[in-house]
Amino acid sequence: MESFCFELANAGDIGQITSITHSEAGLAFRPRPILQASVKKTNLLVCRDKIGGKLVGWIEKFPIFGQVWGISTLYVFPRFRNRGIGKILLDRVITQLQGKIVYTATASPAVIKVVCLRGFKAIEPGRIPKLILGMWLIRRYYHPATWKKYLSGQMPRLNYYVKYPPL
Ligand SMILES: CC(C)(COP(=O)(O)OP(=O)(O)OC[C@H]1O[C@@H](n2cnc3c(N)ncnc32)[C@H](O)[C@@H]1OP(=O)(O)O)[C@@H](O)C(=O)NCCC(=O)NCCS
Repeated sequence: MESFCFELANAGDIGQITSITHSEAGLAFRPRPILQASVKKTNLLVCRDKIGGKLVGWIEKFPIFGQVWGISTLYVFPRFRNRGIGKILLDRVITQLQGKIVYTATASPAVIKVVCLRGFKAIEPGRIPKLILGMWLIRRYYHPATWKKYLSGQMPRLNYYVKYPPL
């Protein structure tokens, strides 16, 4: 892992990230304003190649409502996969969100494996509180291009997971 560094994203990363979220089937589209707000609020973490500083991957955490947060937009470029980078990105954000209720929606077997080992439980979308689901949709799925991608069948069926803080 010595060739990579993990740090907050900057404004210069947004163009590449928004474009990948548009084309990558496993990701919901993230328009620029969402990513700009995430950069400003230090909610977007990236992994870079130390030599040259190119983006290797990223992950986003976002507030849904009150103490409820979401994790999304996890991506690692294909040539860097299966080296543990996705797991490090997930672990960093899960650690930052300790004490919160955290939701994520994914179709990725790699993400499912990691989050289940970190105490996340599968939840049927119908069992997610309506307020949370509504705020989640408003905050992350308001852009028509996001719906177009989702409804076109381009995206796989998502599974939902939640982690509650220990009592
Ligand atoms: C999901 C993704 C970020 C994983 O990144 P990665 O850096 O390859 O992941 P890691 O190397 O850290 O692997 C994490 C774990 O998942 C396992 N894993 C990786 N790919 C897997 C697969 N296809 N099926 C099952 N397990 C898998 C790894 O073996 C590892 O487990 P281990 O620590 O027990 O060995 C990457 O595949 C990706 O960008 N996919 C496309 C976008 C996407 O679907 N993102 C998820 C949106 S929620």
